[in-house]
Amino acid sequence: MKILSVVGARPNFMKIAPFNRVIEEYNKTAKEKIKHVLVHTGQHYDSSLSQSFFSALNIPDADVNLHIGSGSHAEQVGNTMITFEKLIKVLKPDWVVVVGDVNATLACSVTAKKEHIKVCHIEAGLRSGDMRMPEEINRLVTDRLSDLLLTPDKMSSENLRKEGVDESKIKFVGNIMIDTLEANKDVAAALSFEDILRDNAMNRIYKKPVDSYALMTMHRPSNVDHKEVLIPLIDFLLNEVAKDQPLIWPMHPRAEKQLKEFQLWDTVFKHPNIILLKPLGYHPMLKLNMGAKIMLTDSGGLQEECTILGTPCLTLRWNTERPITLRKYGGASVLVGNEIEKIRAAYHEMLTLEVKPQRPELWDGHTAERCLQAILEASK
Ligand code: UD1
Repeated sequence: MKILSVVGARPNFMKIAPFNRVIEEYNKTAKEKIKHVLVHTGQHYDSSLSQSFFSALNIPDADVNLHIGSGSHAEQVGNTMITFEKLIKVLKPDWVVVVGDVNATLACSVTAKKEHIKVCHIEAGLRSGDMRMPEEINRLVTDRLSDLLLTPDKMSSENLRKEGVDESKIKFVGNIMIDTLEANKDVAAALSFEDILRDNAMNRIYKKPVDSYALMTMHRPSNVDHKEVLIPLIDFLLNEVAKDQPLIWPMHPRAEKQLKEFQLWDTVFKHPNIILLKPLGYHPMLKLNMGAKIMLTDSGGLQEECTILGTPCLTLRWNTERPITLRKYGGASVLVGNEIEKIRAAYHEMLTLEVKPQRPELWDGHTAERCLQAILEASK
């Protein structure tokens, strides 16, 4: 059997690492080995967003890189489809495996399906209900086309049933990101906090002792692309959060670009209690999350990691495709959108909370094994 797996952007890499590893394990004893081809569309190309994750998570170099790079959504998706179509016509895999919800996920599932190749979606069934999010469109189209839909939680399976997906295609396997977290948490814990701040410093090497800190990340277009949203948010971060404690902020390229565009960059850069870092590798980010008093983020993956680690998390969004990470469903996060009153109230409440790790069903570090098993069964 030939499986072609696709990755394109940062959040895909931690999902493909455990899947690649279980195929390697399977091949050690299997009579009929699986030929695994790893394709990187090249949507993320900076080493800090891409290659550093391959090295840190022991993912072999991609067999093929499509070098799509940056561009508008139509450019990224269109260019990926054109190049990927040529590739699969030659390689003729039995399955194309896509993960998550980035532009590569959409482009490659559509292209594979038109070539009559079976598509398996890992992390299927997530729904934010927000059609203004490009990721929601990617999720909907990918799931509509997939032959095998592997879900991280039962709510996601239920979403698919409501949309009329045939029961035989849905399999609840758990959260594959947590396989990576479990496999890497000891390595992360052993890192030095001071080394992380020094090696990744962007605005200054912070010299004062840090015994409590807030951690934040932000990259969603809904937060960073609009001046009227970004200005009050930055004001709150600078004048309230960073007043209480140091605020550590690994910077996403999109956020940096927008802060510069709206003339906010210098103020953020010069603030004495804001520690700007370059985009972090997997282990340093995990280490910082393990020690944070509070997380402020618009990243879906971090919401999930906060659930397992127990870090109180303010999700800077109005909705989430991952409700299982919310406190009301047993997780560690609350939705606060980008309205300052709401953020402020939740921030002060969450600051009083203890770290309380949670473990949703099947977020047990063995999801990749169940994913491969499901593909093998669906191939019979
Ligand atoms: C993408 C994903 C999003 C994911 C995020 C994680 C889609 C629709 N969005 O959003 O789901 O949460 O990645 O990072 O697929 N850039 C660089 N270097 C790179 C890559 C991009 O500087 O290696 C710049 C681009 O020029 C662009 C910006 O970063 O200006 C955004 O990149 P893009 O891939 O368009 O989307 P993300 O916002 O990263």
